[in-house]
Amino acid sequence: MADTSIRILGIPGSLREHSYNKGLIRAAQKIAPAGVEVTMYPLHDIPFFNQDVEDIGDPDAVVRFKKAIREADALLISTPQYNRSIPGVLKNAIDWASRRPRQGPEPRRSVLDGKPVAIVGITPGKSFTEPAQIDLREILSAVYCQVIPEPEVKLGEATERYADNPELPDEATCELVREVLDELVTFIQRANIEEAAAD
Ligand code: FNR
Repeated sequence: MADTSIRILGIPGSLREHSYNKGLIRAAQKIAPAGVEVTMYPLHDIPFFNQDVEDIGDPDAVVRFKKAIREADALLISTPQYNRSIPGVLKNAIDWASRRPRQGPEPRRSVLDGKPVAIVGITPGKSFTEPAQIDLREILSAVYCQVIPEPEVKLGEATERYADNPELPDEATCELVREVLDELVTFIQRANIEEAAAD
């Protein structure tokens, strides 16, 4: 088997067992080319952000989450739309991850600082997750992520796309996820080449 040279952390914004958005991450896992590993990181165990808790120290689940982000070359976030925005669980996880370390040499950077991110989203409704994705881009820009501008994968008709398999969308949907994954991988490779040239 080929060595994994690019690690992508897939973060679904839904906790639902048969989440359509988890399915988009699964699609990315299925179609990932050799050398690219996509890991699904569900947000079940991330507690509500509480600055009093943070003052004592990050809970273990948050330590694990930050480590997973730090070790990833990029994030693939698949967001549902809840009431014209992203779900609270996703915003909560981003809030934890956005915090800079309290100690250590300056400059102290959060694990999200400079991280390449691709966004996808799916809904059974007619919104195509458009408002949610606009909000998510705004939030991620506030925490210095590098969100790739395109292709945009904003999908409706979730029920139809998962008609044959509740875990995995149809081929046409997988192809759209492939386009995003390809662009993200190209973005990472270009950044790696530029970094190597600067050394
Ligand atoms: C929704 N849903 C929804 N859909 C949409 O297209 N626009 C919306 O504004 C909302 N708002 C909304 C609010 C709340 C609280 C819930 C629970 C749901 C429907 C949503 O898209 C649907 O439940 C998806 O299946 C959720 O994504 P997962 O869990 O399948 O990934």
